[in-house]
Amino acid sequence: MFVGNHVSGVVFTKEIGQFNVNQQLAYCSSQVDKALESLRPYDFTMMPRNILREGRTWNLRKAKPEEWCSGFWPGILWMAFDYNKSEAVNKAAIGYTEAIAPIINSPVFDHDLGFIAINSFLKGYEVTKNEHYKQLALQAADSLITLFTPTVGTILSWPRHVKDYGGHNTIMDNMMNLELLFWADKERHSQTSNLYDIAVRHADTTMKNHFRPDGSCYHVAVYDTLTGKFIKGVTHQGYADYSMWSRGQAWAIYGYTMVYRYTKNKRFLDFAQKVTDIYLKRLHETSDDMVPIWDMDDSRGIAAPKDASAACVVASALLELCQYVKDGDRYRDAAIQMLRDLSTARYQSRDKNVSFLMHSTGHHPAGSEIDASIVYADYYYIEALLKYKNLLQ
Ligand code: GLY
Repeated sequence: MFVGNHVSGVVFTKEIGQFNVNQQLAYCSSQVDKALESLRPYDFTMMPRNILREGRTWNLRKAKPEEWCSGFWPGILWMAFDYNKSEAVNKAAIGYTEAIAPIINSPVFDHDLGFIAINSFLKGYEVTKNEHYKQLALQAADSLITLFTPTVGTILSWPRHVKDYGGHNTIMDNMMNLELLFWADKERHSQTSNLYDIAVRHADTTMKNHFRPDGSCYHVAVYDTLTGKFIKGVTHQGYADYSMWSRGQAWAIYGYTMVYRYTKNKRFLDFAQKVTDIYLKRLHETSDDMVPIWDMDDSRGIAAPKDASAACVVASALLELCQYVKDGDRYRDAAIQMLRDLSTARYQSRDKNVSFLMHSTGHHPAGSEIDASIVYADYYYIEALLKYKNLLQ
């Protein structure tokens, strides 16, 4: 868990950016109340996923290992509870979190087990210190490392797609899941496992192969299963193999910032800055505000759909990264401007539907969740708001 004010002289005061974070958190809290009302009577196994077009309430998906977004709604509820201490939200958070337990107890399906466990049990543990949540998060970490392939040096992201890609595949999103391994290692005082070493090896192998010289990333890296050699970088959810898929780059920014939090190794900090700087440069070139188009190389340019979720992930990461570096003010200011833009009528759902935000893009090449409200945008938005509130002096 990130807790603020680490190293640098970067300061957070109410005056900076004149952004009223309490007002935005109160907004999130009231949207959660509306959403919970719309979900009655609760079936805790059915998780909010998206709201498309003119929809007003969440489309639900069954919590299961194949549904990578299963944990985001419980996590949103834990963060809302952390803010408002509402008994009703607490009860709902407990109910939806418990619905994740069968996933943790199932054989690992793919790397998304990390997302699912981090967002539900680990987030719940951070807020409540409930020992049962801790045990399930630790169990998930042990399960996740069974996908680690020593020859390659990374976790296999999609076991079901090895044949399709012609080898071991690792996706950039997988960087996010290393948090579960680092956290579990720390909880166990580094005594009983190789979780830390696996996470560092994954981060190093990814740093070596998954990026172009300018710091932009491929979505998928394919490796020879037998020799472990890097074969190629391709896309899955982006515009093209050569393009910068905004959320993929966002996962890289958040991922390497988090890896630095746990390792304190400067090579990861330098790299977090490198992947951030190219993102910010391209963002300024391709967008009319601090929310990117879904892929920075979409030939439609500013007419392409936005991806608010990428902005939320990056805002949350930069509120941490700015604490670690000497020239952190520029990351702080960028993060605040992202939150400010996201908190306008252009992006906030307000009376239109029960989510926090509109205008995210899920899987554009598949024609799925384009310009929609998506649950993970809300998750990283409220996470970023809470980080910001905690940093204010
Ligand atoms: N992890 C899948 C996505 O970012 O859409």
